[in-house]
Amino acid sequence: MSRTPPKQTGDPETTGHSWDGIEEFNNPLPRWWLWAFYATIVWGVGYTIAYPAWPGISKATAGVLGYSTRAEVASEIAAVDAANAAINARLETTDLTAIAADPALLSYATNAGAAVFRTWCAQCHGSGAAGAQAGGYPNLLDDDWLWGGDITAIHETISYGIRNEENPDARFSMMPAFGRDELIEGKEISQVVNYVMSLSSPPQDAGEVAAGAQVFADQCASCHGADGSGDRMQGAPDLTDAIWLYGGDYARLVETVHNARYGVMPAWQGRLTEAQIRAVSAYVHGLGGGEAPPAE
Ligand code: HEC
Ligand code: HEC
Repeated sequence: MSRTPPKQTGDPETTGHSWDGIEEFNNPLPRWWLWAFYATIVWGVGYTIAYPAWPGISKATAGVLGYSTRAEVASEIAAVDAANAAINARLETTDLTAIAADPALLSYATNAGAAVFRTWCAQCHGSGAAGAQAGGYPNLLDDDWLWGGDITAIHETISYGIRNEENPDARFSMMPAFGRDELIEGKEISQVVNYVMSLSSPPQDAGEVAAGAQVFADQCASCHGADGSGDRMQGAPDLTDAIWLYGGDYARLVETVHNARYGVMPAWQGRLTEAQIRAVSAYVHGLGGGEAPPAE
């Protein structure tokens, strides 16, 4: 006796197989589905032949089309470089002081320079270029310049750097370590620090200022100027403007005079293209403190 429920009207045909009385409906896959499935197999095989696919010991199979994402990026970069070649050439050959007079060039240089700055300069000077007193990284937004703020001076600073050992044209000067090398006594350091403080704010001990002025005239004026306003030829900071590279409180000033400071900036010539250096020079010059070229 069969245990299978009787076949209902409307049920598909069975395959005719029967296992312990269980029968199988005959439901073939739809044709369109089957052909789509075969097509994906063909496409998959073709893909692994055409493109990088099968992992090997050191690298995957390259594929007959020779495609790689790396090559694609390289070709996109080459395309951008090619598109910018003309304006980069113009940037490299235009007189530095004439860049500002060419609005299209200036706008290209400022944008390209901002990108260079974010990549190469922000780690020391800060992403907003405001510098960091802890490391003696100068603020590039203000109009207080150690080495000069017209575009030619800025370009020179960036090209060769400051006190580095890699570029023979690097800007160089060296403040003596007055305390460590025992050039003056501890008492004189305290006096001269009070005098330096008095140039921009109330000193810690007003009684020492007069004696400090004498120490300053003897020991410091040759670099920082008789009035303390600094000397850009030597990168000697202005000590009268209350803008401090390393800090203007008593303790920091004593430290500066005792040990001196030796701020180092790398050279960018050779590391960046001339167009990039000019672009970032224009960017820095345009940040707010940029000066007009010196009168001839
Ligand atoms: C490793 C840190 C470092 C990096 C990176 C760096 N700088 Fe400097 N930069 C310094 C220091 C330190 C000084 C101050 C040196 C001194 O005391 O004279 C300085 C000084 C300068 C000055 C002179 C400021 C003045 O008042 O005269 C300019 C301009 C400048 N940097 C621009 C740049 C640009 C543009 C870049 C990127 C291409 C850059 N710097 C990258 C550390 C750095
Ligand atoms: C040979 C030149 C020279 C002499 C002499 C000299 N300085 Fe300097 N001084 C410098 C230079 C250059 C710097 C900047 C160092 C740097 O940027 O790393 C500096 C930096 C300073 C600073 C740091 C300013 C800041 O913004 O943080 C102070 C303060 C200072 N000097 C005080 C003095 C005093 C006081 C004397 C005399 C006792 C003196 N200097 C003598 C060259 C000199």
